[in-house]
Amino acid sequence: MLKKKKLFSLITPIAAASIILAACGASETGTNGSASEDGEGTTTLKVGTDAAYAPFESFDDKGNIVGIDVDVVNAIGEELGVEFEINNVGWDPLFQQLINSEVDLGISAITITEERQETYDFTEPYYEATQLIVTKEESDIESLQDIADKKIGVQMNTTGHFAAQDLQGKTSANIKPYETTPVAIQELINGTVDAVIGDNAVIIEYIKNNPESKLKSIEDDSFEKEYYGLMVKKGNKEVLDILNEGIQKLKESGKLAEITGQEIE
Ligand code: ARG
Repeated sequence: MLKKKKLFSLITPIAAASIILAACGASETGTNGSASEDGEGTTTLKVGTDAAYAPFESFDDKGNIVGIDVDVVNAIGEELGVEFEINNVGWDPLFQQLINSEVDLGISAITITEERQETYDFTEPYYEATQLIVTKEESDIESLQDIADKKIGVQMNTTGHFAAQDLQGKTSANIKPYETTPVAIQELINGTVDAVIGDNAVIIEYIKNNPESKLKSIEDDSFEKEYYGLMVKKGNKEVLDILNEGIQKLKESGKLAEITGQEIE
C-alpha cells in the first residue's frame, strides 16, 4: 500500500493542490473513488492497477505494490502534495472500475490508443514502448511472420492481443488470451502456446528474472512505437490536470527520466 512520505509537513504543496482542485471544481465527497480530502486536508486519489507487470507494477516480498508506475505517481504526489492509494484490481476490471468511478485513475503501463481515447482520457506520455515476441530458446521462430500460423498467448485486451489479431485475424482460434502476462508466459513454458506477444520491458524483465525458463525475445520492425499514459475516465479533467501538471514537473526536473531510465518529450 501507499507509503506515507512526510506529506503532513509539506504545507505549501498541500495548499497548492487544494487550490488546483478548488479551481477545477473537484468534489470532496470522498465516496465512489472521487478525489477526496482526509481530515488533514490531503487530496487522495484512488488508483487501480494490475500488479502482475514488473518492472511497472508488481508485489514485493512484503506485499507492497512497487515499480516504475508506482514511482511515477508517488513522485507526482511529492511534487503536488497529493496522496495515491493503489489497489490491485486486475487489468480487464480496471477499465470498468474507471467507468464506474470506483477508481480515479489507472496506472498499468497502459498504451495510449485511439480506441481507448473514445472512452478514457490519457495524460501526456511518460514512457515509450513496443511489442516483443517471446518464445523458447530452442524455437526456430525468428519474426512475426513466423508465428502467423502458430499459437500465440497474450494478455487479454492488451496491445499484444491486438497485434496478434492484426496478424491472424480477430477471430483466430490460435490466439489464446489470458488474464495476466505472467500466465501467458507460463503457458508458453508449458507448451500450450508457441509464442507470446507482450510489452518489451516486461518481456525483458521476465527473461532476466527467470533464466531457468530458457526463453528468448524477438524484435520485429512491424511493431509500432507505443506510449504509456496514466488513464482517467473521459472528462475527468480535474484529476487529469493534476496528473499532467505532475508529469510536466517531473519531465522538467529530470526526475521522470531518472525513474524510467529513458528520455521522453
Ligand atoms: N501496454 C499494453 C496495453 O496497454 C499492456 C499493458 C498491460 N498492463 C498490465 N499492468 N497488465 O495494452
